[in-house]
Amino acid sequence: MKNNRFLRALAGEKVRPVPIWIMRQAGRYLPEYQKVRGKTDFLTLCKTPELAAEVTIQPVDILGVDAAILFSDILIPLEPMGIELSFKEGHGPVLEPPIRSRTEVERLVVHDPNETCKFVRRTIEILVAALANKVPLIGFSGAPFTLATYMVEGGSSRNFLNTKRMMYEEPITFGQLMTKLTDVTIRYLQMQIEAGVEAIQLFDTWAGALSVTDYTTHVLPHVERIFNALSHYNVPKIFFAFGGCHLLSSIKDLECQCFGIDWRTPLDVASQLLGGDKVIQGNLDPIALFLPEAQLRKEVDRILTEGRCARGHVFNLGHGVLPQIPPEKVKLLVELVHEISS
Ligand code: CP3
Repeated sequence: MKNNRFLRALAGEKVRPVPIWIMRQAGRYLPEYQKVRGKTDFLTLCKTPELAAEVTIQPVDILGVDAAILFSDILIPLEPMGIELSFKEGHGPVLEPPIRSRTEVERLVVHDPNETCKFVRRTIEILVAALANKVPLIGFSGAPFTLATYMVEGGSSRNFLNTKRMMYEEPITFGQLMTKLTDVTIRYLQMQIEAGVEAIQLFDTWAGALSVTDYTTHVLPHVERIFNALSHYNVPKIFFAFGGCHLLSSIKDLECQCFGIDWRTPLDVASQLLGGDKVIQGNLDPIALFLPEAQLRKEVDRILTEGRCARGHVFNLGHGVLPQIPPEKVKLLVELVHEISS
């Protein structure tokens, strides 16, 4: 029978043992991933449904996590908008040309992911069949501000100089860019839900770069539009604003059931800021996985205790697992969470 602990926790049940999945659970820290990845480049892996499905399932079998997350990347739906995407070994993503002017924003295409991202739909279809008796499948998308930073900066950035300049100096152009990214994100998530994912997570990885005022003025209305557009779909939704503790009381009324919390804020504090009636997900510091077992156990215990204050708790890291972390430690974490919470 299928393990539905994750979906029950998202529905607000105090599930025992507490379910756990891990951001970036399919990735370079796993030798099994490296083996598949060794045969091809990252983008081709994302665009080859059989391989993407294979690496999605790896952590479910190897670690015993309670959910699978579609193997893809938040930058995938940007390519068909008319920007060239590549991943240079050791450099992270590169997007060319960077989108900086009104004309460049106007040229961006609001495409139909059913046509342009058929490989994502196919990957989900394979996974829905393959995971039928295992665990639920999570779909995801980047949130518009995070996607905008990659488009405007042309890749990763330290201070988001160009993105924030556009937001301050050309607010109308910035708003047009956010609107187009929001439109694509809604269609992209609709496509994933219709293909069969059982939960979705929206990643606002760089939300923490903005003040409360700038976030609520320039970004939040777009995030609201995404969740409102998806509210009639009966799939639980998770919003993860990394570095966004200062934003929690502003985002608490979004139409989503669960909020991801990074390691900076204790879960009981976060739960209170969210109004006390939300499910929360998190929040072990990924680097705490280097702790010796006894100390790791203490950290897990602390987080489970803090998590009990919330309506429901899904255990996770406060951000993605790093390639340097030994897979045995990640497996140990899953066992500890299940053992201590049962
Ligand atoms: O979580 C999962 O297992 C599902 C797959 C997934 C990936 N990226 C695979 C990936 C998910 C959900 C993402 C989301 C993503 N991608 C985010 C938001 C989450 C977060 O981490 O905050 C962001 C900001 C990106 C953009 C991105 N993709 C960057 C900056 C990089 C390079 C960084 C690096 O570690 O090299 C990627 C590449 C990437 N995405 C890899 C994987 C497994 C590594 C690619 C490889 O095999 O070389």
